[in-house]
Amino acid sequence: VTARVVVVGSANLDLVVTAPTLPRPGETVLGGEFTTVPGGKGANQAIAAARAGGEVRFVGAVGDDEFAQPQRNNLAAAGVDIGGLRTVPGPSGVALIAVDQAAENLIVVAPGANAALTALSAADRAAIADADVLLCQLEIPVETVAEAATVARAAGTVVVLNAAPARVLPAELLSMVDVLVVNEGEAEVLAGRPAGPDDLLGLVPRAVMTRGARGAAYAGRDGTRLDVPAPAVDAVDTTAAGDAFTGALAVAWAEGRPVAETLRWACAAGALCATRLGASSSVPIRADIDQLFEEWA
Ligand code: RIB
Repeated sequence: VTARVVVVGSANLDLVVTAPTLPRPGETVLGGEFTTVPGGKGANQAIAAARAGGEVRFVGAVGDDEFAQPQRNNLAAAGVDIGGLRTVPGPSGVALIAVDQAAENLIVVAPGANAALTALSAADRAAIADADVLLCQLEIPVETVAEAATVARAAGTVVVLNAAPARVLPAELLSMVDVLVVNEGEAEVLAGRPAGPDDLLGLVPRAVMTRGARGAAYAGRDGTRLDVPAPAVDAVDTTAAGDAFTGALAVAWAEGRPVAETLRWACAAGALCATRLGASSSVPIRADIDQLFEEWA
């Protein structure tokens, strides 16, 4: 069975500079090469899900500037259905990214067109209702995420929310989430204190916590607790590693694979992504995820 995934989320053009170290506030650091890479958590996760074997529709917005076309082309080239990608007046979303030699990054996002994704069309709603999984993040208006989740809920489509970037969320939205994916910082903001996945079960029925090179943890209200390591890799740039993880997780979830296997497979996808520079450009294909998964599981 092919996993049908609808992503409602952001698309950015990433302006990336490598540097020996990340600057502290007020500091100027002389960096290396400059590259532009299509990114945005929504588009990255849509591409990640498509490369992981899903049939994916992306609902998002780009501007009417020169940054829009590379993003359209990139999504289409990955096999993502961009029928739900609007063009709105004004600038596209942009992310300024610095990456250091330890593969750490700093990211500032100017939402641009992403802030104009304020309503779903009839076709978007129909696609969400037809899908196995709705996958959202928090780089678009939270009202739009709630609208998409409402449609999914009514149709029995599984709602996976990657609550990134970190923010407090309305209880009403959280009550519609089936699977929450967060890192440690995002969990702390949601819970109001340092929190593990089990501390999030008051908010959602299932919580996945990504922990970078330390892998991922899972807690479910059914009593399931999992702690999964990540395969050791030589990290070059961790940008979009969480997106690769989440896109792969959405596909494996839609395929109905066991949770432990789903987490390990998603960890393999995240690890592979960290070995390459850039966002969507570094998201792995299914065959490579399978290979690393089998070598290491
Ligand atoms: O998760 C990585 C992404 O965050 C980048 O591609 C950047 O665009 C920001 O949205």
